[in-house]
Amino acid sequence: MRIGLIGAGHIGGTLARLFVQAGHQVAVSNSRGPQTLVDLVKSLGENAKAATLEEPAEFGDVVVVSIPTKAIRDVPVVPLAGKVVIDTNNYYAQRDGQIAELDDDSTTSSELLADHLKNARVVKAFNRLRADHLAERGTPAGTPDRLAIPIAGDDQDAKKVVAHLIDEIGFDAVDTGPLSSGRLFQPGTSLYGTNPSPDTIREVAEGSR
Ligand SMILES: NC(=O)c1ccc[n+]([C@@H]2O[C@H](COP(=O)([O-])OP(=O)(O)OC[C@H]3O[C@@H](n4cnc5c(N)ncnc54)[C@H](OP(=O)(O)O)[C@@H]3O)[C@@H](O)[C@H]2O)c1
Repeated sequence: MRIGLIGAGHIGGTLARLFVQAGHQVAVSNSRGPQTLVDLVKSLGENAKAATLEEPAEFGDVVVVSIPTKAIRDVPVVPLAGKVVIDTNNYYAQRDGQIAELDDDSTTSSELLADHLKNARVVKAFNRLRADHLAERGTPAGTPDRLAIPIAGDDQDAKKVVAHLIDEIGFDAVDTGPLSSGRLFQPGTSLYGTNPSPDTIREVAEGSR
């Protein structure tokens, strides 16, 4: 599969490596331009390329957005129409500035991204796993106590695609429901600060319905 990554930092760069290791092709971008990604793509090998901000959106069958929430309006809209978009982002007012509709919980950062993108099939994932755990703690399917990643989205088929990718790189995906259910595993929630088991994630999701 071709996977585009907008943002190539702790999470985007780690996901790029894991996806290449799983046999996918990646195109990665950041805010400073492809010339600043030469070392990263060299270390990833021939299935990785450095890209401009627009290119990953056009390149990817699936596109990961892994940037500060304050920057989501920079994500290109037109090339992402109809595509599966993985949103790894969290809202931190200290970093992102105050965003009133997130402060009052009337929406979530993933829904803000979905609103911006209009027709993309946004799935929230990878937002609550620390980058070092993502890099180092993946295990084969069936391993006891395999780490679990909650996912949320409004498109069932998109969630299946993302769950498969998560399994390929070493984790169990647990679907919590619609995109709005991503608020169950945002910063400040009980699911955020720990590595909860799949059953714990399911219990929290069921308890919220
Ligand atoms: N670190 C974690 O453990 C962790 C875990 C889960 C979720 N998250 C969330 O995932 C997101 C990414 O986190 P991170 O730790 O990977 O951040 P990071 O290491 O600071 O990397 C952020 C990346 O986003 C790029 N970027 C910033 N503004 C951009 C823009 N306008 N257009 C395109 N690219 C832009 C940066 O490019 P430049 O370097 O060129 O500016 C950089 O490649 C955040 O929302 C974060 O809260 C982080």
